[in-house]
Amino acid sequence: MRGLPPAAWAYVCTVVTLGTACIALSSFGGIDWTTLAVLAVLSVVCESVPALLSSANARVSLSYSAGLASVVLLGPVGAALVGASAVVTGRRDVALVKRLFNSAQFALSGYLAGVVYQAAGGTVGKPTDGSFPGIIPPYVAAVITYVAVNLGLVAVILILTKKAPMWGFRWAPVGQLTVGQLAYGMFGLLIAAPWRVVGPFSAVLVLLPMFIARWALEQTRRQREAQAATIAALCQAVETKDYYTRGHSERVSRGATMIAREIGMRPERVGAVRYAGMLHDVGKLGVPTRVLQKSGALSEEEFAAIQLHPMRGLEIVRDIGFLDEALAGIMHHHERMDGTGYPMGLAGSEIPEFARVISVADAFDSMTSTRSYRPAMPNEAGIAELRRCAGTHFDPAVVEAFIAAIERNGWTRPDPVVPPEGEETAQQDHDDPSAPLRVAGEGVRP
Ligand SMILES: [Fe+2]
Repeated sequence: MRGLPPAAWAYVCTVVTLGTACIALSSFGGIDWTTLAVLAVLSVVCESVPALLSSANARVSLSYSAGLASVVLLGPVGAALVGASAVVTGRRDVALVKRLFNSAQFALSGYLAGVVYQAAGGTVGKPTDGSFPGIIPPYVAAVITYVAVNLGLVAVILILTKKAPMWGFRWAPVGQLTVGQLAYGMFGLLIAAPWRVVGPFSAVLVLLPMFIARWALEQTRRQREAQAATIAALCQAVETKDYYTRGHSERVSRGATMIAREIGMRPERVGAVRYAGMLHDVGKLGVPTRVLQKSGALSEEEFAAIQLHPMRGLEIVRDIGFLDEALAGIMHHHERMDGTGYPMGLAGSEIPEFARVISVADAFDSMTSTRSYRPAMPNEAGIAELRRCAGTHFDPAVVEAFIAAIERNGWTRPDPVVPPEGEETAQQDHDDPSAPLRVAGEGVRP
């Protein structure tokens, strides 16, 4: 228990004591030990391979199904014993203290769900034809109790160990977790219902398809991780071209995501805009480094090379299937509302929404980051510049959404950058609206 705060230590001891007490002080008369052993093994197997949800690293396990089947088949004490079996798990990454806590909280959840099931009129034992539909209301009450007790006990330990805030929970992952647990809990009745006829085989009938579905979901999750690694590698390749822009893609991605949420984009589009933010400057790989690092005014050809980088970016990532709408954001992130941007000179609503979003986050991060020709601007100055350019360069609605998101969530600025001795760096930044590129004989260009 080393490393746990004292309050968390006391809480774990209390939960373990209560879990032990509800088993030790109960009578074991009439328990079907064979059914109990089967459900306990089933619970341990399920607990050993929990499904990772897509958000917040939350895990939900099929052991809920076994726990709630035991509420019907065995009653409160049997459900507590099945829950307590979580102390044995095949997962080597789970420390003993966590096993003890999980075991105790599952025992308490099972016990209390069993008590509520009986209090609501549920009959303990193998259901018969006559059990339905009367068994459903008490069973639903048991599922809700099981999930509520489980979530409540876990939430307290997360708060005490500072893994979750006391206030300001992110409700989306909590909601996803709760729905997953309630759904897995309902499968418990599907396991219990045919038990009289097919015995333990009912668990196989119900859980085998579930395991296959989860295996498919796991493959999807791994595929997403591989996609994220691919994008991170491309970003790193881009950012090695200029010491000053390290971390820029990640911050633009974060800013674009904040805007996307602020303007109410659907979650799939928020995910796509995140990718677009990461990859918006991937086309710089196709711009000669000597052009990016040139200190004097650019020639027409050099300026054209920089203006081509959105198209180069599109060429590089066009065949990556999962990018979809992100491609439009990459290609058009330097268009301007007044039509003087590049590469196509689109204006106003002709500019794809992703591009208008990335454009604002891109410019703000550039201005609030150190560049070779100026120190980082304060956030307030960056915001003032965005507002000054709203309507001509930026979409005013996107600018205001970004400012509102920053005011609510804050903005993590990069640390001041001092390149190592001898490091070649860019002397102009095409993303910086406060210092447009200089072109020989023509002054500055947008
Ligand atoms: Fe760019």
